[in-house]
Formats: sequence, C-alpha cells, structure tokens
Amino acid sequence: MSPQPLVIVGAGGFARETVELVHAINAVSPTWDLRGVLDDSPTLEGGTVAGLPVLGPTAAVHDLVDAAVVVCIGNPSNFVARAQVVERLGLAADRWATLVHPSAVIASTATIGPGSVLHALCVTTTDVTIGAHVAVMPSVVLTHDVVVEDFATFGAGVMVAGSTRVRTGAYVGSGVILREGLTVGQWSLVGAGSTVVRDVPPGEVWVGAPARRLRDVERVGDLADRLA
Ligand SMILES: CC(C)(COP(=O)(O)OP(=O)(O)OC[C@H]1O[C@@H](n2cnc3c(N)ncnc32)[C@H](O)[C@@H]1OP(=O)(O)O)[C@@H](O)C(=O)NCCC(=O)NCCS
Repeated sequence: MSPQPLVIVGAGGFARETVELVHAINAVSPTWDLRGVLDDSPTLEGGTVAGLPVLGPTAAVHDLVDAAVVVCIGNPSNFVARAQVVERLGLAADRWATLVHPSAVIASTATIGPGSVLHALCVTTTDVTIGAHVAVMPSVVLTHDVVVEDFATFGAGVMVAGSTRVRTGAYVGSGVILREGLTVGQWSLVGAGSTVVRDVPPGEVWVGAPARRLRDVERVGDLADRLA
C-alpha cells in the first residue's frame, strides 16, 4: 500500500517532535506521506517548519480532503488549545491519524483513540484505554487498567499507577507520579515533578509531593461542559 497523505496542525515544539515521530515510523515501514504543517500564524505563511512546508492556515484541512490530520498543539499555559482547534475543525473521526512511535511498547489489550500521539519509549502494560486527541510525550508509563479520556496531555516521564483515571483535557506535567486508583479531574493541571496521592478535582492546578491545590485553572470557559 502506498503511504497515506498526512498533515500536522501546529508548528511548535509538539508538532516538530511529531514530525520526528513520523520519520521514525516511516524508517520502519513507509506509512505516511507527510505533506507539511498547517498553522494560523501569519508569520509562518510560506515558510518551513522542521523541513516541511507550511501549507496554510488550519482551515486548509478542508481543502486537503485526502490527507489524514493530527493536531499537535498545546502547552501548560494553554492546554485547552488542542481541544478548541479539534472542535473548530469538526472533521469526521476517520480523518484523524493515530501516531505511535515504533519504540513504544503497546499491549495488545490497549485501545487508542483517533488523533492521539504516543511518543518514543511509552509503555502501556495491560488493559489501558486512551481516548481521542491525547498527547503522550516520551517515556510515559501507563499501567494496568488506566483510563485516559479525550484531550488529556502527559509531559515526558509520567508514571501512572493501576486503575487511575485521567479525565477529559487534564494536563499531567513532566515527571509526575500518579498513585493507583486516583482520578485527575477534567481540565485540571498537575505541575511538573508532583506526586499525586489524592483525587484532583476538576479545573484545579495541583503541585508538590504530596500534591496540593495551588489555584484554579484559567482559560477553560464553557469548553469543559461542551466536551465532558
Ligand atoms: C504548575 C505550574 C503550571 C504553575 O505555574 P504558575 O501558576 O506560573 O506558578 P508559579 O511558578 O508562579 O509558582 C507558584 C508557586 O507554586 C510553586 N510551584 C510551581 N510549580 C510547581 C511544581 N511543579 N512543583 C512544586 N511547586 C511548584 C512555586 O514554587 C510557587 O511557590 P511559592 O508561592 O511558595 O513560591 C507550572 O509550574 C508547571 O509545573 N507546569 C508544567 C510544566 C511541565 O510539565 N511542562 C511539560 C512541557 S511538555
């Protein structure tokens, strides 16, 4: 089968990391014809990102009808952006690419939703469920019966113990440890290096070891209700 056309939405760090991920997949087996990136920043128009052309604004996905799409945007200061763009683009589920680095160890019992990206050296042990448009940075370990809902994000090196649930849109910072059986609430953020030993309510920022509430999250607005 010939490689399938693919475009990446976004032009920042996560997008450039995912370009490398796609190159790694193609080095094993030519799977994707990576055409370029889409971004709404006028300063990027006509330029290149990670050696790929900027093909146009995000809305150009509607012209590139034969291309699979993955949205690679979002950072700790605006981690709702990915969900907002996915919602605005409104593509059918079969347009979204699911990308898993060839070095990831994914159990046969895992399910991974459309638009999700799992970077190098991630592990799912058994019976792990990952929703749609989830971003998983390198070396994240998701152990037995972990459930990750849509639009969640994991920084590098997160360790999630068994049966923990990371709810819609939650952001789990780099190096976080989540104890077994916990829930991290919708659109909450756990700061880098924290150790979480109690449930994190929705819409809050928690930090430290053991993690404690720091403040409410910003920017979520009515997104939480619409995407719950
Ligand atoms: C949690 C976070 C969002 C807080 O950012 P912020 O609201 O700008 O907070 P500040 O930096 O002003 O810090 C506020 C207080 O929380 C503490 N704090 C902030 N982040 C912390 C963390 N990760 N662990 C422990 N304490 C932390 C600060 O020391 C400060 O304490 P003080 O008031 O006693 O001095 C941020 O520090 C963080 O961890 N972001 C995630 C980073 C990450 O994982 N990136 C991955 C990139 S892919």
